[in-house]
Amino acid sequence: MKYIKTVLKHTPVSQVALGCMRIGSMTEHQIDMYINTALELGYNYFDHADIYGGGKCEEVFGGALKRDPSLRDKMVIQTKCGIKKGMYDFSKEHIVSSVDQSLKRLSCEKIDVLLLHRPDLLMDPAEVAEAFDELEQSGKVVAFGVSNHSPMQIELLKKYVKQDLKINQLQLSVVNAGMISSGANVNIDNTDGVNRDGYVRDYCRIKDITIQPWSPLQHGFIEGPFLNNPIFDKTNKIITEMAEKYDVTDTGMAIAWLLRLPEKMQPVVGSTNIDRLKQIAKASDIELSAEDWYKIYLAAGYKLP
Ligand SMILES: NC(=O)c1ccc[n+]([C@@H]2O[C@H](COP(=O)([O-])OP(=O)(O)OC[C@H]3O[C@@H](n4cnc5c(N)ncnc54)[C@H](OP(=O)(O)O)[C@@H]3O)[C@@H](O)[C@H]2O)c1
Repeated sequence: MKYIKTVLKHTPVSQVALGCMRIGSMTEHQIDMYINTALELGYNYFDHADIYGGGKCEEVFGGALKRDPSLRDKMVIQTKCGIKKGMYDFSKEHIVSSVDQSLKRLSCEKIDVLLLHRPDLLMDPAEVAEAFDELEQSGKVVAFGVSNHSPMQIELLKKYVKQDLKINQLQLSVVNAGMISSGANVNIDNTDGVNRDGYVRDYCRIKDITIQPWSPLQHGFIEGPFLNNPIFDKTNKIITEMAEKYDVTDTGMAIAWLLRLPEKMQPVVGSTNIDRLKQIAKASDIELSAEDWYKIYLAAGYKLP
């Protein structure tokens, strides 16, 4: 496993993070095993959100920390807030109370990184700034970032918020890579040339913001894995070819493709399968050649004009 520096300047974090959106129904034995094996494999970054499993995911994770408090110092815990049923809410009251509830469920005293989950269309950035100051001063949150935000939305927040915003969690996978392909199709009259994110990739590189690709093994809007899916036969054929060449599995290769991006992204993998976590940890150590990276890019149907 490789490690990178992100917003937590003094804490190297595993280049692959584990997303905890799917752990809500794990038994005590399963979650203890998941966390301990993940740490042994080198993963030290766990991503949560207040809404995952209606709070159950944080609660199950917190149970493991209660049973073995020594785990807490071995990991970085990130969580998110701002989504409510039928609306988004970045009010100071909601942000602060959401963190308090997450801390309770996670059975810990501080959140290492707090992300604003999705842009609240009614946001008052001055209120976000007040919430962040309060959470930082009380020691409840160490660092802050965003998720699903455009460059302009981040700039607006930065006008008010004094803390660094150095993480942006965004949807990205081999088959969901418009963020990447738009960069090769500037001013071209094809679908890849349509930029939907304000060139967020370039912006994050310029501002040293770490992109955390979410659902890196899914297609559509979390519609299922694209690997072994006949809709993506052409892409999967090349992924398998490359996986064999580099002696990793298809799952590993799909993550290695993201890790090859030079800005050092931190994919957030949601697998709860220990064997798959092993495959991904192994693949995180390989270096895909530029030629092979482009072969997968083209097989996924993206264009080079
Ligand atoms: N910021 C946001 O708006 C946002 C939105 C969604 C998610 N997230 C974050 O991103 C994390 C990852 O999301 P995700 O869980 O959708 O990610 P993912 O890693 O793309 O998908 C994981 C799911 O795909 C299955 N899977 C993976 N490879 C497979 C294969 N080769 N064959 C069959 N099944 C396979 C896994 O099953 P197994 O468990 O059996 O491996 C698991 O159910 C979440 O936990 C969350 O932390 C953030």
